[in-house]
Amino acid sequence: MGTTPEHPAVAKGLDDVYVKESKICLVDGLKGRLIYVGYDIRDLAEHSSFDETCFLLWHFRLPRRDELETVRRAIAEERKLPEEIYALLKDLPKSTVPIDALRTAVSALSAYDPDLADDSKDANLRKALRVTAKVGTIVAAFERIRQGKKPVPPDPERGHAEDFLRMVTGKAPDPLDTKILDVALIMHADHSLNASTFAATVAASTLADLYSAVVAGIAALKGPLHGGANEQALKVLLKIGSPANAEAYVEKALARKEKLPGFGHRVYKNFDPRALILREYARKLSERQGDMNLFDTATAVQDVMLRELQEKRIYPNVDFYSGVTYYLMGLPPEVFTPVFAVSRVGGWTAHVIEYWQSNRILRPLDLYIGPMEATYVPVDRR
Ligand code: ACO
Repeated sequence: MGTTPEHPAVAKGLDDVYVKESKICLVDGLKGRLIYVGYDIRDLAEHSSFDETCFLLWHFRLPRRDELETVRRAIAEERKLPEEIYALLKDLPKSTVPIDALRTAVSALSAYDPDLADDSKDANLRKALRVTAKVGTIVAAFERIRQGKKPVPPDPERGHAEDFLRMVTGKAPDPLDTKILDVALIMHADHSLNASTFAATVAASTLADLYSAVVAGIAALKGPLHGGANEQALKVLLKIGSPANAEAYVEKALARKEKLPGFGHRVYKNFDPRALILREYARKLSERQGDMNLFDTATAVQDVMLRELQEKRIYPNVDFYSGVTYYLMGLPPEVFTPVFAVSRVGGWTAHVIEYWQSNRILRPLDLYIGPMEATYVPVDRR
C-alpha cells in the first residue's frame, strides 16, 4: 500500500501509533521493563499491595500512611454488592461464561452508583474506587453460583486478595496464596494502552460514563488474543500433560502455523517481567504441592518456543504463567480472565480519568476500498 493522498498508509493493528500522552505506565518492550508512575514493577511486586498500587495509578504518587489506610478501608467497605446484583447473577443461566456474567453485572451496577451522572474528577475517582472494589465480589459470587453454592459476602476486615480467595472458596486462604494473588493483582493492574484499555478509552472519549468505559474494557479483555489467553494457555499445558510431550506438541502446532496462547506480545520483544515473577511463584506453589509436573511441562514448552522462535523474538507473556499460577492456587480456569479484570479495572479507570483531563474523541479512519457509483435497484428487480 502506497502513501499517496489516494492510497494513504494503513496502520493495521495500530502498531507504533501513539494516540495520547500518559503519566501512568511505560512498557519498555526491548528491555523487558514495566513501570507504573516511575516505579519498577519488580519493586511494586515485592513491596506494594493492590490497594496502594491503585492509589498510585489514580493519583500519580504513593499514598502517605493515613491515605493508604483510607484507600484500603474504602476498597474493603465498597466490596459489598447491591442485593439486586446478586439476584441478577442468580438469574443468569449457569452456563454463562464468567467473563460475560461480569460484563453484564458491571453494566447493571452503574444504575446503583449515586455519582453516575456526576462527571467531576472527584466523582469519577469515587466511581473508580467503587467499581474496582466490586469487580472481585461479582467474580467470586458468580463462581459460587455457577457451582451451585451460596455467594460468600465480603468481609471488610480482610485484604482485597485474601477476601477474593475467601469469597471464591468459602475458606480462609493460605497466606502464600494471598501473597501471590496480591502480587498478580499488582502486576496486572496496568499495561499502558493495551487493547482493553484502548477500548475503555475509546468509549470514554465520547464522554460516556466510567462504567460504560469499564464494560468496554471487559468486552475487549475477553478475547483469547488478550486476557482470554491465560485460560487457553493452561488448557494447552494440561493437554500436553508432561514435559516429555512438549517438544512434539509445540513442533506440530508451529508447523500448523498455530499461535500458542501465552507467547508473543505486540510490545515485549524480550521477557515479560511479570511472567518471570509469576514463574517463580508457580515454582513455589508446585513445590508446596510436591508435584512439579505442570511447572516442568511449562518450562519444557517455554524452552522449545524460545529455541524455535528466537528470531521472531517470541517470549512467554504474563498469561502463560498466570494460568499455571492460578491453577496451582486451586482457581478454576474459567475465572482466570475475570481475575485479570479484578485487577485491570484499576488501570482502565486510571487511564480514562487521565484522558478526560484533555479529552478528544477518538475517531480514526478506515480506508474505503469498496465500489463507487453503484446504481440502486429496487428489491423486486435484483
Ligand atoms: N505462537 C507462535 N508464533 C507466534 C506467536 C505465538 N504465540 N505469537 C506471534 N507469533 C509469530 C507470528 O506467527 C508472526 O510470525 P510471522 O512473522 O512468520 O507471520 C510473528 O510471531 C509476529 O507475530 P504477530 O502475530 O504479528 O504479533 P502481534 O503483535 O500482531 O500479536 C499477539 C501479538 C496477539 C499477542 C500474538 O503474539 C498472539 O496471538 N499470542 C498468543 C495469544 C496471547 O498469548 N495473548 C496474550 C497477550 S498478553 C496480554 O494480552 C495480557
